[in-house]
Amino acid sequence: MSQAMTKPATGPFPDGFLWGGATAANQIEGAYAEGGKGLSIQDVMPKGITAPPTEGPTDDNLKQVAIDFYHRYAEDIALFAEMGFKVYRFSIAWSRIFPNGDDEQPNEEGLAFYERVLDELEKHGIEPLVTISHYETPLNLARSYGGWTNRALIGFYERYCRILFERFGSRVKYWLTFNEINSIIHEPFVSGGIPLPRQGLTEQDLYQAIHHELVASGRVTRMAHGLMPDAQVGCMIVAHPVYPLTPSPDDVEQAMHTAHASYAFGDIHCRGEYPGYLLRHFRDNGVELDVTEQDREDLRNTVDFVSFSYYMSICESADASITKGPGNIMGGVPNPTLEASEWGWQIDPQGLRVIINDYWERWQKPLFIVENGLGALDVLVEVDGVPTVEDDYRIRYMNDHLVQVREAIADGAQVMGYTSWGCIDIVSAGTSQLSKRYGFIYVDRNDDGTGTLERYRKKSFGWYRDVIASDGAVVDNGVAVA
Ligand code: BG6
Repeated sequence: MSQAMTKPATGPFPDGFLWGGATAANQIEGAYAEGGKGLSIQDVMPKGITAPPTEGPTDDNLKQVAIDFYHRYAEDIALFAEMGFKVYRFSIAWSRIFPNGDDEQPNEEGLAFYERVLDELEKHGIEPLVTISHYETPLNLARSYGGWTNRALIGFYERYCRILFERFGSRVKYWLTFNEINSIIHEPFVSGGIPLPRQGLTEQDLYQAIHHELVASGRVTRMAHGLMPDAQVGCMIVAHPVYPLTPSPDDVEQAMHTAHASYAFGDIHCRGEYPGYLLRHFRDNGVELDVTEQDREDLRNTVDFVSFSYYMSICESADASITKGPGNIMGGVPNPTLEASEWGWQIDPQGLRVIINDYWERWQKPLFIVENGLGALDVLVEVDGVPTVEDDYRIRYMNDHLVQVREAIADGAQVMGYTSWGCIDIVSAGTSQLSKRYGFIYVDRNDDGTGTLERYRKKSFGWYRDVIASDGAVVDNGVAVA
């Protein structure tokens, strides 16, 4: 574990810094078949990303109830307000609005639910940040169309976005087009609704699907700017700084190739065209994309800001025989200097400063950290008769990451805000567990589905409230990762 803590960065975070938390519909809402909602790919993923999908919905899918946000949103948003959230990132379930994805008309009951959520946020003065598509492609688009491999999805997505912009445009300023868009390279089903395992998918089909998503993202960015002059649209990327395992030039080059695979998504979103290294990858692999003149035009609608998730850095080696470790979407060669979470994800706060500097220098667009946090096993205890969790490990994790955000801001990067992942306990995307808890708020529900669904404030709840109230001034530079 690196103990090399950085020089202190002093003072609070910038004025207007958007402090808050983040969730995704399928991991919190439950009510999977209520309110006219259609099935999404998540309804056939009872064991999460890491297991193959089932034919239809099964009762062992914790997401069918999740944490019942669909019915308890008002109570939850009031708790976010108690912590002082300035912003709440949540996603809209596409299949609540268009149950089959290809419907002509939207489902009004679904729209009404998000109206109620927005009402509640407005009541508490919390700015919404909406992810339009967060691993929730309507199942019909996956099964009948082959997901994003099919160009028809651009039109369906556009229709969905138009409805969101028309109905919510006066209330929502910040939009993200696709959650962790680069994850499609590793997880084509969850990320692109493509009903094939990665090994069964050719580079040609994979990159054509990616192209369709990128075109869709550009097209709706233009639409958003046309319909909502004040709107800001961001892309969203899984960020992993890639370190060479050794100083050997072969390892350095391998690290560059791995980094390119993710950079490409930001390069296209920020520069409006394919980077040379990706065109070369196409040439070398016999990929010939179907790209129209209109597509090229659509891609030129660049984003206003870049958002990303950050959980860990990875190492790369030219030695392909080295086994990769676990991680968020893509694992990497383990870094011998770092410790890991209970789920094996390596912890590297300084990597966050590195990636912020890197992205800022590369794209010169404002950055938004929209996911960061520690999935851990929490133990509910009673303090003065009140149930809580003494989650000092989570406080340490977040504090150490925020120190690095402040350092990166001092380095000159423009950072819009920070929304911690799973600000309330949710069902994990990777393994579909509730016991992998990220929240400041404990939800009484277990992996076997038992529990009262009661909410309890953890120790980190008060800590984060103080962080926000002091605009980050209480973030302590001297705390090392446990
Ligand atoms: C990100 C996703 O990949 O990581 C989230 O955007 C997910 O949906 C988060 O929950 C943490 O991963 P996990 O597997 O711990 O839930």
